[in-house]
Amino acid sequence: MAKDSVEPINSALLADALAGLAQPQKQLSPKWFYDTRGSELFEEITQLDEYYPTRTEAAILVAHADQLARLVPPGGVLVELGSGASVKTRTLLDAGGHFGAYVPIDIAEEFLMHTAQDLRRRYPDLNVAPVMADFTSAITLPSTFDGVPKTAFFPGSTIGNLAPQAAIDLLSRMHDLDGVDTFVLGVDLVKDREELIRAYDDRAGVTAAFNLNILERLNREAGADFGLEGFAHEARWIEDRIEMHLVSRRAQSVALGGTVIHFQAGESIHTESCRKYTQDSLRALADAAGWVVDDMFADSDWRFMVAVLKRKPD
Ligand code: SAH
Ligand code: AVI
Repeated sequence: MAKDSVEPINSALLADALAGLAQPQKQLSPKWFYDTRGSELFEEITQLDEYYPTRTEAAILVAHADQLARLVPPGGVLVELGSGASVKTRTLLDAGGHFGAYVPIDIAEEFLMHTAQDLRRRYPDLNVAPVMADFTSAITLPSTFDGVPKTAFFPGSTIGNLAPQAAIDLLSRMHDLDGVDTFVLGVDLVKDREELIRAYDDRAGVTAAFNLNILERLNREAGADFGLEGFAHEARWIEDRIEMHLVSRRAQSVALGGTVIHFQAGESIHTESCRKYTQDSLRALADAAGWVVDDMFADSDWRFMVAVLKRKPD
């Protein structure tokens, strides 16, 4: 019985973790946070008092819903990167009766398919066509959408989880994707350090559980034997970003796919960077990838911004 419940080794996760944990600063890619449990924990984070980005961005989308929905031409496709539970997206879908299709793209397959089913119930006339893909590599959309105009949507400041060059690469790939001439991008803005730390180290410990879940995933899917009590969640503000770390509480060794990983007391695994932007750094990012910022929508305190990018004229 117990044998049947053992999950097969996720070789991509194992290879990535072995490479990341062999670096002088041990690291894991944040894309591995999002198994179904991780996706649920992220949804819990969005409800926390301290985590202002989701509700701030949601209010911006509500305030400008019609204008943003009109960025999708009649019969066009709304393509969302890192769609998660697609909750905020419903604001655009509600205003977008003219959309030809909605294509949510996410790496968390089970959560994505479940969300797509829920959306089909909510919007019976909308073509919901989920694509399970890793947006850090080339994305292929269903060929039925070839030649159909598309508007890309990347909310949540998830772009901030990518290293600067990876963010440029992603925006460039979307620039090259068939039919995409508008990109709606949500970015979190630089603000008070203490407020940022609180947003990533909440009192209820939900963000800590989200961070530690990556070790649980390694245990389950990569045959590791991390003791979760041996690591502490930490959020650090460094220059232009929050960094999340898992700090080893003591000197210890952990097995991972036949390799033994050693940790000194206080040594950390860097699990995520959450980069915060300014108007200028966002313009520079867009420019480096062939886009120009056409419009910016922010809340009155300039905590979060939804930017509309258009292709730079040739
Ligand atoms: N857009 C939602 C969810 C953000 S959470 C919001 O704004 O609230 C980040 C989402 O991106 C998760 O659903 C996660 O599974 C997805 N994700 C993270 N890395 C990814 C990758 N490399 N490729 C595709 N999806 C990814
Ligand atoms: C998904 N992403 C934009 C979140 C963020 O704020 O960087 C992930 C997150 N990590 C901790 N809390 C939320």
